[in-house]
Amino acid sequence: MTLTGKGRIAGIIGWPVAHSLSPALHGYWLDELGVDGAMVPLAARAEDFSRVIEGVRLAGFRGVNVTVPHKEAAFALAHETRQAARLAGAANLLVFKPDGMIGADNTDAVGLFDSLQDALGGVAIAGKNIVVLGAGGAARGAVYGLQQFGHVAKITVLNRNKERADQLVAHVGKLQPDAVLQTGTFDEWDQAAADAWLVINTTSAGMKGNAPLALDLAPLPQSAAVCDIVYNPLETQLLKDAASRGHVTIDGLGMLMHQAVPSFEAFFGVKPSVTPGLRAALVKVLRERA
Ligand code: ATR
Repeated sequence: MTLTGKGRIAGIIGWPVAHSLSPALHGYWLDELGVDGAMVPLAARAEDFSRVIEGVRLAGFRGVNVTVPHKEAAFALAHETRQAARLAGAANLLVFKPDGMIGADNTDAVGLFDSLQDALGGVAIAGKNIVVLGAGGAARGAVYGLQQFGHVAKITVLNRNKERADQLVAHVGKLQPDAVLQTGTFDEWDQAAADAWLVINTTSAGMKGNAPLALDLAPLPQSAAVCDIVYNPLETQLLKDAASRGHVTIDGLGMLMHQAVPSFEAFFGVKPSVTPGLRAALVKVLRERA
């Protein structure tokens, strides 16, 4: 057991926040690593966000994770920003520095990449063709991360609204001029799927309460893997269909666990590991809530 600090406190701020798995996730690592600390949920309405941040900063919190609807506001109030946060225009991590400065990062992109590496056993993503479904904030992080960390050959972004996909590609392309990025609507699925090595759903379709994407997986090569960043439900309809066709599937819990690693390290001073034990603990929480 390593005792790395006394009474370190961090928060997860959102509205609502009761559904967040962050307290359970960080709590697991705090116990496992014997760190004297806590991760507390902070329910804050949009209009109270900056006051709550100031309050917990002055109270001695090490920082906060940020969830819906505060990610843009968190980015806006930071004094120092990492590239991933600047690209997203949104932060999921604020670190309160001893000199009063607030640093912002966005760990979703690296979280997705590490989750893919983990699930695919470290097989190189470099040089592969990827299809990203969706063009919202989550897609932006995915495209950036795949290119930044994975050096992939080509990313095709398919979205209901093609204009949004074009905007995403234009934005990411400015930071990553070497990226080969294509766009289309779901009408281009058959063509995009034909040479895909990996498909990633970043849309909210398939999330609990939302109808799934009506995608026919037949055009996908048998060897292609399918990832869904949604984790509620853990096995989305897309993943069920993919599994029944024999594709390797990767659920959204992996990204959730991996995106938390840099936050835990920033708050509590020790790098935690993503393990089967952690996954089992979170699956148990999700089951209890279902
Ligand atoms: P986030 O920041 O979580 O990515 P978002 O910015 O609201 O959220 O983006 C949601 C994504 O899911 C978008 O790509 C959206 O498609 P549009 O841009 O065409 O609206 C996509 N999406 C949501 N519901 C969908 C559905 N039923 N079918 C297809 N795409 C859907």
